[in-house]
Amino acid sequence: MYNLFSLICLYAFGHLASSTSVPFITKCNLNDSKCIKKSTQAVIPIFANGIPDMGIESLEPMELKKVDASTSNLKLIVTDLSIAGIKNCIAKKIQFDDSKPTKFLFKIECTADLKGNYEMNGQLLILPIQGKGRVTAVIRKIVFTITGEYGKITGKDGETHWDITNWKHTFDIKEKSDLNFENLFNGNEVLGKTAQEVINSSANDILLEIGMPFTTAFITNIISNVQKFFHTVPLKELIN
Ligand SMILES: *[C@@H]1O[C@H](CO)[C@@H](O)[C@H](O)[C@H]1NC(C)=O
Ligand SMILES: *[C@@H]1O[C@H](CO)[C@@H](O)[C@H](O)[C@H]1NC(C)=O
Repeated sequence: MYNLFSLICLYAFGHLASSTSVPFITKCNLNDSKCIKKSTQAVIPIFANGIPDMGIESLEPMELKKVDASTSNLKLIVTDLSIAGIKNCIAKKIQFDDSKPTKFLFKIECTADLKGNYEMNGQLLILPIQGKGRVTAVIRKIVFTITGEYGKITGKDGETHWDITNWKHTFDIKEKSDLNFENLFNGNEVLGKTAQEVINSSANDILLEIGMPFTTAFITNIISNVQKFFHTVPLKELIN
């Protein structure tokens, strides 16, 4: 009985995934960047909440098991990192350029709440630092610029789909962030307070310095879900 039910569900979902109607997408001309930006903006919250039919998991919050941001000067490992706020990200500029090579540019601005466990030892900017405990951050107006190339592939549905072939990114932070490490110097009040004061006054500088492994993990996750979206939705449903 259960098996039969699963089979029916599988069939129904398979059918859904291969059907071509995607009600929340506004089709645009490829050269109409205003339309593409607006259409992307409408998709962001739906996307962030997850689209199970497309294998897109909920990104609200995004969970990252482990990010190792260690450098030669600093051991920094963050585990069980949770990032909330993706559904409120703003599409600033979305472009697809169909000349060869076919290129895209996504510029998105997010305000995110981060929570996780950290382990740190070494030098943060010029500050000697050590600790292990909870880390929380509020990062306001972080702007990601993602550029890359895309190609076209034929899906299992026989339709043409976009396929992201490579990408890279930069980021900048437009407003002051909060960054708080609990239990610095194993709870030593004096050392901990002094270090946290420095961290408070240079949170953005620190985030720009240590941020790349975190933003790379973040964007890798986003791109892998965008790729699932492109591989599920035929190009003719996205672009006129
Ligand atoms: C965009 O391309 C279409 C044809 O593909 C053309 O009709 C239209 O004028 C172009 N629009 C702009 C803003 O360039
Ligand atoms: C650091 O800033 C937070 C607010 O983000 C504040 O609650 C905390 O008291 C500050 N810590 C120090 C040591 O200045």
